[in-house]
Amino acid sequence: MDISNNAFQKCINPDCGAEFDCGQALFKCPECEELLDARYNWEKIEVPGKLDEFAKRWAERANPLDFSGVWRFRELLNFCHDQYKVTIGEGQTILQQNDAVAEFTDVKSGRLYLQYEGLNPSGSFKDNGMAAAFSHAKMVAAGSCACASTGNTSASVALYAHHCGLKCTVFIGSGRIAFGKLSQAMDYGAQTIQILGDFDDCMRQVQDVCTKLGLYLLNSLNPFRLEGQKTIMYRIIEGLGWEVPDWIIVPGGNLGNSSAFGKAFYELKQLGLIKQIPRMAIINATGADTLTDLINNKKLTWNNGNVDQKIIDNYYAGLTARNFSPHTCASAIEISRPVNLKKCLRAIDICNGVVRAVTDEEILDAKATIGRHGLGCEPASAATIAGLRNLRIEGVIGADERIACVLTGHPLKDPNVTVNYHKEKQGKFSNPPTEAPNDFDEIIKLIK
Ligand code: F0G
Repeated sequence: MDISNNAFQKCINPDCGAEFDCGQALFKCPECEELLDARYNWEKIEVPGKLDEFAKRWAERANPLDFSGVWRFRELLNFCHDQYKVTIGEGQTILQQNDAVAEFTDVKSGRLYLQYEGLNPSGSFKDNGMAAAFSHAKMVAAGSCACASTGNTSASVALYAHHCGLKCTVFIGSGRIAFGKLSQAMDYGAQTIQILGDFDDCMRQVQDVCTKLGLYLLNSLNPFRLEGQKTIMYRIIEGLGWEVPDWIIVPGGNLGNSSAFGKAFYELKQLGLIKQIPRMAIINATGADTLTDLINNKKLTWNNGNVDQKIIDNYYAGLTARNFSPHTCASAIEISRPVNLKKCLRAIDICNGVVRAVTDEEILDAKATIGRHGLGCEPASAATIAGLRNLRIEGVIGADERIACVLTGHPLKDPNVTVNYHKEKQGKFSNPPTEAPNDFDEIIKLIK
């Protein structure tokens, strides 16, 4: 099958709309510097008539592309030949109905679901995106790659680069990365450059470095990465017996996931594969709440692609004037200049979305609850449950609605935050260790 005409890249700026073939590695529009989408000529692609037809692939799991939770849905991200497709078994993640966490958030039993993306090979949702982006990197014969990261991207990039035989450099903010993630980047053999700055500084530097040295960029500016992340939504729908939930809740950092999820639902609706698009809630941390501020206070909207750039420029000028650097215990989402902002505005428009910010205290208590009653997650992921709790109090989300929260990263990514929360009794659910003498009788007395 010749698939070269199946897909193309297109600038999201309606005044530009420039199109490029998929054989180029472009991370912004060469004409106007706006973000690029991967787009499809759907009439040329044999997409199954019903979503449940994808379920047949479970029977063919000896085929690595059918085993992959990304490539099982390959007709919906059909931009490259099978020969380039990369998989290390990503996307074997589960959707768990969780009544105890539902109770914590005042949601009726049977209505709350947790999508555990921490079960991916590198321990975060990023692997969904990397399977797709590294396939594109192979398709364009990239030899070296790079990314900026708050941690998980670097771990995932390092793992896939190692698998694909690409040289790899990751940029991280010094002291801004959780130890689990840093240990992975080093262990998988990436060159790790610690910049004296925050994620936003790293993001700026890596784009210039990639342009200057011709490195393949793996941040979510890369349109093919977001194609892989669409599959998280397909798997949630699959977990619900091929039905959509009423709400998707996702943490907001660089806003790649929210952008990808909006695109996934828009396309499924366009293809007639779903009848209704779920609503989306995007949750920031209060110490890194650019999106919340821009949407709820500055009234920034997608406006059919005619985004008011002045609002964004003024906002960022204000951050610079204050010498602002974001701070939250959820280091994964410690970002104040999210690169996918405009695509996220589009997703909010598609999904009738809402945006909220939650405090570190709320994040940590939610995280402890998910740990005690589920498989656990890292702090950024718990922002979803903290956000849901507040949206229930506000009455924005109903107790009887069906809700899926995306738990983006594994609990062992950031053991320091967890240990401090429990040992230093920082929150409502702290469970500190009990000191005991090395004496049998004394130990027996201490067992509860
Ligand atoms: N949750 C986790 C665990 C993350 O690592 C990230 C982003 C997010 C949520 C936010 O997702 O950027 O799609 O809005 N981590 C990036 C990184 C920035 O470098 O690892 P987003």
